[in-house]
Amino acid sequence: MNIEIKNLTKVYPLGKKKALDGVNITIDKGIFGLIGRNGAGKTTLMRILATIMQATEGEIYFDGKELNANKEAFRTSLGYLPQSTKLMPALNIVEFLDYVCIMKGIKDKNERRERITAAIETVGLVGEEKKLLRAYSGGMLRRAGIAQVLIGDPQVLIIDEPTTGLDPEERLYFLNLLSKIARERTIIFSTHITADIEHLCQDICVLEKGQVKYLGKKGEFISRIEGKLWEHNGTPEDEELLRNKSVVTSVAYVNGAPCVRYVSDAPILLGSTAITATLEDAYIYALGGVKR
Ligand SMILES: Nc1ncnc2c1ncn2[C@@H]1O[C@H](COP(=O)(O)OP(=O)(O)OP(=O)(O)O)[C@@H](O)[C@H]1O
Ligand SMILES: [Mg+2]
Repeated sequence: MNIEIKNLTKVYPLGKKKALDGVNITIDKGIFGLIGRNGAGKTTLMRILATIMQATEGEIYFDGKELNANKEAFRTSLGYLPQSTKLMPALNIVEFLDYVCIMKGIKDKNERRERITAAIETVGLVGEEKKLLRAYSGGMLRRAGIAQVLIGDPQVLIIDEPTTGLDPEERLYFLNLLSKIARERTIIFSTHITADIEHLCQDICVLEKGQVKYLGKKGEFISRIEGKLWEHNGTPEDEELLRNKSVVTSVAYVNGAPCVRYVSDAPILLGSTAITATLEDAYIYALGGVKR
């Protein structure tokens, strides 16, 4: 499914500044990574895409059809997993998914059973059917949330910061799960961790203060600073100078001595060495450099 977001702006009734400010994005099949720091506008964009909130200005087209004029039709092909979900703690996964099926109007008992079994298998919760959801770990709950969304067999999945709070193992499991279910679907997922999109998506959007800072291929994003990234081990005075004369993408202190990574057409200080750019460097560069 092709999604086109045109000139989207959102001003909250109580907010003075624009949570989204003239956002233009095109999304095709596969996994699309939306990255931005706290308050960038990720959740706002996702809620508008999921049709649970109205934009102040702008339009969204799904396969050429305008979203607001076809809301009901789109809701059936959309699955949305909010940033914080409260699943029903007193139910087990089967009871919970059965409830979801019933809410979706699936009346046939056998069909419900089939869908539930398939969803539980896909998200790897086989063997955990008897446990109440209140006893599930953060990672298991996130997977149960995906199972809930998959029940309706959506073409588009909108998933808001799914990896926050997961341990490394669960996080990797979850990311692999996303790439598995993305084979036949479009997944839009948001994060503030560059490592999440490092291996998962080719198409990315960097959002900052409601505006698109970058939209395109991940490789091109990194190549923007290729050949311009330097590392310098030096003194705090060197760090100060580099912060003033270039865009610093990271500072690591080793025994109190700063190791500075910075972007500049040419090395600024003697002893700086050329280094290979990472997604993290490109991201921090796009945001204007690392904070003090
Ligand atoms: N209901 C609301 N009323 C007023 N302002 C809001 C509301 N919800 C969000 N905002 C503001 O809109 C901006 C974007 O918020 P949003 O939640 O979309 O960001 P985000 O990228 O999802 O952040 P996070 O990474 O913290 O989840 C922020 O400045 C936020 O304070
Ligand atoms: Mg958010």
